Amino acid sequence: MRPRPIQANTVKAKKLIRCITSLEGEMTSEEHRLLVDLLQSGKRRGMHLEIGTGAGGTLCVMLNAFTCENRPRFVAVDKMGYFPNQLEIVKKNLARYGFDEKTVEIRVAKSDAAFIHAEAANERYDFILIDGSHKVRAVMGDLRWSRLVNVGGLICLHDYSHRFLGVQMAVNHFLRRNQNYQRVARAGSLIALHKTALATRREVTRSDEFYASILHLPLKLITKWSRKKEQKWHSFCQ
Ligand SMILES: C[S@@+](CC[C@H](N)C(=O)[O-])C[C@H]1O[C@@H](n2cnc3c(N)ncnc32)[C@H](O)[C@@H]1O
Repeated sequence: MRPRPIQANTVKAKKLIRCITSLEGEMTSEEHRLLVDLLQSGKRRGMHLEIGTGAGGTLCVMLNAFTCENRPRFVAVDKMGYFPNQLEIVKKNLARYGFDEKTVEIRVAKSDAAFIHAEAANERYDFILIDGSHKVRAVMGDLRWSRLVNVGGLICLHDYSHRFLGVQMAVNHFLRRNQNYQRVARAGSLIALHKTALATRREVTRSDEFYASILHLPLKLITKWSRKKEQKWHSFCQ
């Protein structure tokens, strides 16, 4: 599917255009600092993953948290339809920092399809950053990747805030259902979860997916309504 042209009349679109033109990540410096601190702590050398890479700004920040010698294997999963020429822009961003194509394995795919392949290949991760679709069903789906996280590993999620109820509600539900994950840090809307023990059952089950699908429509309507109010307020203030 071709990405739609971007119309810069919403807060989100303005943020997106800023990110494409500056090639910076879509996170604040406070959130990036926390990410770097977490990446540099704990000597996690297993595979690292970003789900939803945008223009690759945060990916570059994460890669820069390591030296060439101690950088773990990085994978980025993105369906690459966020804006025109997204994959080329990500590659340009990586090149800007001197990273060659071998530094990160970019998988152009939807998170759910990429998960099926990763699970079949028996992959294991020490670190996952989830920043793909913020819809509750999608976030719940992304949380399935926790099955592939080693004990001691970290899962970070961006946009865990009341502005993105899909992220907030999926994460809260996940934490209620999985006592072997603990919140360990938060900066801005970035939250970090620590896997403290092996799961005794699947972290995300059919019933969790059902829970997310029930919430999907009400959350969509609430988000639409609050974005409209936000936009009106924004244009009033300008
Ligand atoms: C908010 S941006 C990511 C920003 C990036 N993490 C940063 O900090 O700069 C969201 C990204 O998720 C991707 N995305 C959305 N839904 C997805 C899905 N189901 N599977 C894979 N990628 C997805 C979009 O293409 C987009 O690049």
